[in-house]
Amino acid sequence: MTLRIDYTNMMGDVINGGIAAADWASAPFGRAHAGLDRRRDAGELGFLALPTDDALHRQSTDFAATAKAKFDDVVVLGIGGSALGPIALRTALLKPAWNSLTAKERDGQPRLHVLDNVDPQTITALLGRLSLERALFVVTSKSGGTAETMAQYLVVRERLIQAKLDVKDHLVFVTDPKKGALRQIANDEGIAALDIPPAVGGRYSVLTPVGILPAALVGIDTAQLMAGARDIAGRCASAGDTLAKNPAGLFATLQYLADTKLGRHIHVLMPYSDPLRDIADWFVQLWAESLGKHRTSGDAGVGPTPLGALGATDQHSKVQLFMEGPPDKTVTFIAVAEGGAELTIPKLHSNVTELGYLGGHQLGELLSIEQRATAGALARRGRPNMTMHIDRVDAWHLGALFMLLEIATIYAGELYGVNPLDQPGVELGKQFTYAMLGRPDAEQARQEWNLLPKPDARYSV
Ligand code: PA5
Repeated sequence: MTLRIDYTNMMGDVINGGIAAADWASAPFGRAHAGLDRRRDAGELGFLALPTDDALHRQSTDFAATAKAKFDDVVVLGIGGSALGPIALRTALLKPAWNSLTAKERDGQPRLHVLDNVDPQTITALLGRLSLERALFVVTSKSGGTAETMAQYLVVRERLIQAKLDVKDHLVFVTDPKKGALRQIANDEGIAALDIPPAVGGRYSVLTPVGILPAALVGIDTAQLMAGARDIAGRCASAGDTLAKNPAGLFATLQYLADTKLGRHIHVLMPYSDPLRDIADWFVQLWAESLGKHRTSGDAGVGPTPLGALGATDQHSKVQLFMEGPPDKTVTFIAVAEGGAELTIPKLHSNVTELGYLGGHQLGELLSIEQRATAGALARRGRPNMTMHIDRVDAWHLGALFMLLEIATIYAGELYGVNPLDQPGVELGKQFTYAMLGRPDAEQARQEWNLLPKPDARYSV
């Protein structure tokens, strides 16, 4: 079981345009590590304790053990950090096209749907094809009051009532142990509710019941997820402020220096693996919502722009931009040593130049060679890149990746001088939404909204 970061192609003594030795030597990682320690000691980094929180883990596995046989469909209602983790887990660790497989092909495990939006078309279509009697809805919200998730919940609840089903048999909440409307409803009505610890924010919550409950319900090895996360958390803790040994520190410091010293403001995560494609989306939210913000009130704002890509698919899309577009990007590849299946390319058309050389190679070998070729080509053009190597896509390695990127985000927050745990910038849009929907406590937002410029006919075609 390994997760190794090769950052050769980030360094200025190896590639043109890489990080200069002097910048590397003076990287303020000691300060970042001290900041992480301070936050941990202040009880702010609850996600670090999750891999050893057996009681919390058991909340999910115990619930799943008694519930799963009753359901053919598990539907997660949630958005942002409450949805992207379950989606990444599903794509990585379940068989491809899981929800289209027969029950036998799914080894008797339920299908897993994640409704991460309020588009009526998607929700109507899903509810229209489910058998509600055999469906479990996991309503996930740390705050217990997010408009999109609450709207989904209200729609689902009404459908259950119309179908004359007992809502308690078809709902489980995942929310703060004490606060919020969902917890209140759960307490009032005796609906099952699992905990998101107070010190774990939405985008750091995949290893709480947010991700672990759906995972356990569909038969993913959640103990292995925790084992991988525990391993990386341990590696980072024992490395401490020794940057060269701290994988999360390295990831954060390299990206930070590339941004602030080399103008590489865009950070691409590019797995060469279909199962890992949604971990890129999960990372994009983590990096964007944690780091894009004001350092002090009134400053212009800092933070890199994360971007997801998929190899080899995006070699025929975004890689042209990465190679020759503005030199404002780093690319982090995720390379997987063992693909999930062996598939040999047949030796056909051996006398056709464009086809003959492929015969006899493995498809996984082609994917891996393409990743190395792209990394090398970027390096040759002075485009910094690095590669995270994992043995295979399994629960252990996924847990390790989640934890590595979460710790790296805290380090990056310290390096950029921002609080990686809050998201004040999304509040105003929420308040305007409340104002327009008539929420009674949104009077101030309503007044502010009314003062905004209205669409001007001169600027409309
Ligand atoms: O990372 C975050 O905190 C956010 O993206 C939240 O996950 C998102 O806004 C949903 O919030 P909640 O879980 O409170 O419904």
